[in-house]
Amino acid sequence: MDALLDSPPWTSLFPVHPATTDARWWRTAVVYQVYPRSFADSDGDGVGDLPGITARLDHLAALGVDAVWLSPFYTSPQVDAGYDVADHRAVDPVFGTLADFDAMLARAHALGLRVIVDVVPNHTSDEHTWFRRALAAPAGSPERARYVFRDGRGPGGSEPPNNWRSIFGGPAWTRVAEPDGAPGQWYLHLFDARQPDLDWTNPEVRDEFEDVLRFWLDRGVDGFRVDVAHGLVKADGLPDWDGTTAMVEGGADGATGPMFDQEGVHEIYRSWRAVLDSYPGDRVLVAEAWLDSLSRTARYVRPGEMHQAFNFAYLTTPWDADRNRQVIVDSLAASDAVGAPTTWVLSNHDVVRHTSRLGLTDAGSLPKGIRALDEQPDAELGLRRARAATLQMLALPGVAYLYQGEELGLPEDTAMDDEARQDPAWFRSGGFEAGRDGCRVPLPWSAAEPSHGFSPTGRSWLPQPPSFARHALDVQRGVPGSTYELYRRALALRRHLQLASGSLDLVELPGVTTSEAVVLRNREVLVVTVHRGAPVSLPAGCDLLIASDEVVQDGAGSLVLVPGTTAWVLPPRAARVPHARTTG
Ligand code: NOJ
Repeated sequence: MDALLDSPPWTSLFPVHPATTDARWWRTAVVYQVYPRSFADSDGDGVGDLPGITARLDHLAALGVDAVWLSPFYTSPQVDAGYDVADHRAVDPVFGTLADFDAMLARAHALGLRVIVDVVPNHTSDEHTWFRRALAAPAGSPERARYVFRDGRGPGGSEPPNNWRSIFGGPAWTRVAEPDGAPGQWYLHLFDARQPDLDWTNPEVRDEFEDVLRFWLDRGVDGFRVDVAHGLVKADGLPDWDGTTAMVEGGADGATGPMFDQEGVHEIYRSWRAVLDSYPGDRVLVAEAWLDSLSRTARYVRPGEMHQAFNFAYLTTPWDADRNRQVIVDSLAASDAVGAPTTWVLSNHDVVRHTSRLGLTDAGSLPKGIRALDEQPDAELGLRRARAATLQMLALPGVAYLYQGEELGLPEDTAMDDEARQDPAWFRSGGFEAGRDGCRVPLPWSAAEPSHGFSPTGRSWLPQPPSFARHALDVQRGVPGSTYELYRRALALRRHLQLASGSLDLVELPGVTTSEAVVLRNREVLVVTVHRGAPVSLPAGCDLLIASDEVVQDGAGSLVLVPGTTAWVLPPRAARVPHARTTG
């Protein structure tokens, strides 16, 4: 036994990423996404609100996250659940008041939680004063110049100015009636017709948004998640494009159309960065940019630009050991090349929850919503793999994003009544896409209460499926093995072991094939995820720190992991490396 302990347990070790001593919060944080409509309702109207969030912030502090990102709560007709902003400086009455926002922020800060808010600069609501004025003003007016108005093509301008499609389905152009009632110009909307795109070549638009940033920075926010960060600038001349526009893509190399990822966006973020840097404290910008490659995404986090960009390549990687390993290596290489932290994310309000994605036959594929008539995920398998995926994610160096409810193991609602759906993608695609409502169902806090404690009246803007009762927080808190306790313990260990600022090596263990399992080492911790194949026996002498599911010991005392499990273990004592390679 002693001889065994003297030699390292791995057959090879390949360094990927050095540890860092730069542990500024935005390089190492766990950020929890709150989707305000669905988090907690205080006034009983069935829609979550800011006082509801304030009242439940203790939950997030107890869970052990570092920061909260709030999806939009601004004045909005709620056509796209608040991503259609009518007033960027006001709180929609459905969510409360500015005073409620200040109270929420103060409570979060008192609990040691940073707060990131959304900024939606690509488009406004059609109810924004600017757009109303644009409609009332003639073609060629300064009011129209804030948006992308163009004359149509064809006889009488009856055809759209180009062939672009809306990401939610249908054409990306809508024709207006001129103030005199005659059929007139067209305006661009990459999303819903009620979300007209702004023209970022107009200095007035730039000034306005810098002012919006200042408005929220002055109130004390710690940063912004920038919606459609890659979309603000369109290619000159708005050329036709025959590719497909989709919000949820990335991971694979491919073409990005003339509406996305144009060079001009970077200058905007450099000036935003200067605004943030003029404030005390470490305020941050986070890019939401669905791009085709990690290297393009990394351009948003070059020095002087944003701080973080969502790693959608990780989210879109299927349940496959080789691809999982590769995306981790590529993600770290891309962000290390520009000196930025890597982010990791598995779920958000735009994608099928990873508990359900990973239970599909094509595990980890990314359907645009799931309906009752579609293949239904294997809930047990999906949850098992989701727990394993999350436990791997929380061991990776960098920033981790969690989406509300994943700490409860919530599944997607894959059998929602079509009548209940509200996502514009469902309507604009003519039902071709189920859309995103299935991941937006209000949270279950307590199993026995009406709407499982979401709202005091039991109302809920989307119906909760029966399975939510067994996922409620109150039936998981303090219960060993529950998903909630797994998250809580993993977050505490991640902090204790300083994994977020740690190093990463690829490891090969004897007898473990690379297509069956991904084995990583962060600082001295071995992180083993078994994707498929036979159970994996870890080398003798490993000490278990945490596992996503039960781990047994074989007759020789080795830990055995079955497929769909991640474990963090300490290697045999002699092979531990308390002082990993470090960069400044
Ligand atoms: C990305 C947001 O996450 C999504 O929910 C929204 O529909 C689009 N941007 C348009 O704002």
